[in-house]
Amino acid sequence: AGWSGAASALKLCNIFSVLAAPEITGHKRSENKNEGQRAVLYCKSVGYPHPVWTWRKFENGIFREIDNSTGRFFISSRDNYTELLIYNLDISLDPGEYHCNATNIISSRDEKSVLRVRSHLAPLWPLLGVLAEIIILVIIIVVYEKRKKPEDLQDGESPVVVLSFLYHKLCNDDIWVTFSSEAEI
Ligand SMILES: *[C@@H]1O[C@H](CO)[C@@H](O)[C@H](O)[C@H]1NC(C)=O
Ligand SMILES: *[C@@H]1O[C@H](CO)[C@@H](O)[C@H](O)[C@H]1NC(C)=O
Ligand SMILES: *[C@@H]1O[C@H](CO)[C@@H](O)[C@H](O)[C@H]1NC(C)=O
Repeated sequence: AGWSGAASALKLCNIFSVLAAPEITGHKRSENKNEGQRAVLYCKSVGYPHPVWTWRKFENGIFREIDNSTGRFFISSRDNYTELLIYNLDISLDPGEYHCNATNIISSRDEKSVLRVRSHLAPLWPLLGVLAEIIILVIIIVVYEKRKKPEDLQDGESPVVVLSFLYHKLCNDDIWVTFSSEAEI
């Protein structure tokens, strides 16, 4: 009885000595993705017992349960690690502040990750800028050529003639150099 009493006391003591509040030692601070892509947020902790993990979204000043009505959110937690996966990102629903919460019998901790979702058109903006420049160039060239040589380019001239002026301008003048350096491609 005396021996088992000592053993129990030792065990209890060991248990108490390892109990510790969870500390979140690593997390994804921010995630930037395009719509339709997949986002991965995670948190890691130390502390024992391993925490129970939850994820919430902080919106308009309050914490909300994650709305999984679209079925795109998946949480996988194991011991000191939790992961929130969001598939097929939606630009109007998904951006915002997500918080992982680690709670064990000692206490709880919370960290935030900011998710940004860009339009999948975003990578096209530089291209659209270039297109806009080309259109402006065409207009300038057409007006310029019409004023300079009205006898060469009459009203109702076919687009082929306009294009040949453009080709001539782009290939023989220094416009091309200006154009490509401004486009930053
Ligand atoms: C998480 O727990 C595993 C064992 O469960 C351990 O090997 C790993 O070092 C722990 N990581 C951290 C950050 O505490
Ligand atoms: C979200 O919904 C999907 C599909 O119904 C389900 O498989 C998944 O476990 C849900 N995720 C969460 C975090 O509840
Ligand atoms: C974590 O969640 C628990 C249970 O919902 C809550 O009591 C606690 O206040 C939360 N911790 C933090 C740091 O927000």
